[in-house]
Amino acid sequence: MQKLLSSLGSVTAVIGAQWGDEGKGKATDILGEHYDVIARACGGANAGHTVIVAGKKHVFHLLPAGSLHAGKPVILGSGMVIHLPTLLEEIKTVEDAGIPLMNRLFISGAAHVICEYHKQVDGALEDRRGKSGIGTTRRGIGPAYMDKAERIGIRMEQITQDLRPRIEERAKTLKAWLGITVDIEKELKEIAIAKDALRSCIVSEMPMFLHDFLSKGKTMLLEGAQASLLDIDHGTYPYVTSSSTTVAGALQGLGLPPRVLTSSIGVTKAYCTRVGAGTFLTEDLTERGSRLRERGGEYGATTGRPRRCGWLHLPELKYSAILNGFTCLNMTKLDVLDQEEEIPVGIGVTSSGTATFKNLQGWKQSTVGITDFRKLPTAAQDYVRFIEEEVGVPVRLIGTGPGREEMIIRN
Ligand code: GDP
Ligand code: IMO
Ligand code: MG
Repeated sequence: MQKLLSSLGSVTAVIGAQWGDEGKGKATDILGEHYDVIARACGGANAGHTVIVAGKKHVFHLLPAGSLHAGKPVILGSGMVIHLPTLLEEIKTVEDAGIPLMNRLFISGAAHVICEYHKQVDGALEDRRGKSGIGTTRRGIGPAYMDKAERIGIRMEQITQDLRPRIEERAKTLKAWLGITVDIEKELKEIAIAKDALRSCIVSEMPMFLHDFLSKGKTMLLEGAQASLLDIDHGTYPYVTSSSTTVAGALQGLGLPPRVLTSSIGVTKAYCTRVGAGTFLTEDLTERGSRLRERGGEYGATTGRPRRCGWLHLPELKYSAILNGFTCLNMTKLDVLDQEEEIPVGIGVTSSGTATFKNLQGWKQSTVGITDFRKLPTAAQDYVRFIEEEVGVPVRLIGTGPGREEMIIRN
């Protein structure tokens, strides 16, 4: 671990290299122990990051999974969209687990609030799109960023103000536009509860606040949410989320100058999954795909939806690596492939738009819990080597199970 850490340096971003749910939470939980400050930059409770510590499952939607490390400052950045009751619930879960959080939680005043009406709008727009829907999480993400871009959003720094006139105005507009009835009293009540609970956590100038940590020599781990192929600019538009999910997006969302970043880790499964609609050239609709789903527990942590399952696609992984400039990769869930005779890997696309595959040899042997690369079956080692050579980025971490200890750190 020490060798890995010294090569990563003082500010590291952990970023999804596929369509989400790669295991970013587990990576930041493991690495978080070795960094001084843990931060999330963008997105909202569309994220679901699962961590398993001593057999106990923790699911995070807004807080970074690294929050489990007592005493470390936790940052929610300006690029985030925050549903207040979800945040309060999550804070309570962490504190109930005996880990104090309130005195070390810092929320950017520039982050936006997700109201119940954003969720209503998300649902109404998805319903209206019908079969051609995006398959959003219906957590109000898109509508909250719409309000932000329209410059009518409510920022965290404003929750102490009297918001009744603004919400009444919004309710009128939404009624006329989508026939939605906004429960104004409920909205105001939720904000009032959050105002009392969170007032002391709100930071007015997050870039200055973070600069202060860095100037004192503190190290920082940025936990990405969503993933590169869901990026609003660089992903598979329109089947994307509404935020910037790349390394650059994480820096922008926090207000960190790019030159402070020393490394970035791209997290990819040993295969591939996607939730919601959109292209997925290596999707496997046969029983092999179902086996990946069952073995990998591929059901959304946020919505419970079954994830679409398939194989790695090298052109996409290379795209992600180039887009983000990954220092190294964390390949997760290698153990899920343990029963495969052969493992297809997408290597290209035909003129008619279908993926071409290369079949790699499987290992038909358990890799669960292995922590030494040399102890992996030869075919599993070859699989990892093939991927890193093709992508041109070394695989330095390899997941062999959901637990905190089930990770190979490779020098
Ligand atoms: P995130 O959104 O990127 O943080 O990923 P999620 O937490 O949504 O999904 C990853 C799932 O895979 C979680 O249920 C993790 O507990 C689990 N997981 C992570 N790494 C591994 C691994 O190496 N092996 C197995 N079997 N499960 C893993
Ligand atoms: P984590 O951080 C997987 C997907 C949704 C949908 C699209 C748009 O756990 O990896 P949105 O609600 O954001 O407007 O939905 O993006 N999506 C995710 N898929 N993991 C996520 O987060 C996701 N966040 C959004 O399924 O296809
Ligand atoms: Mg997830």
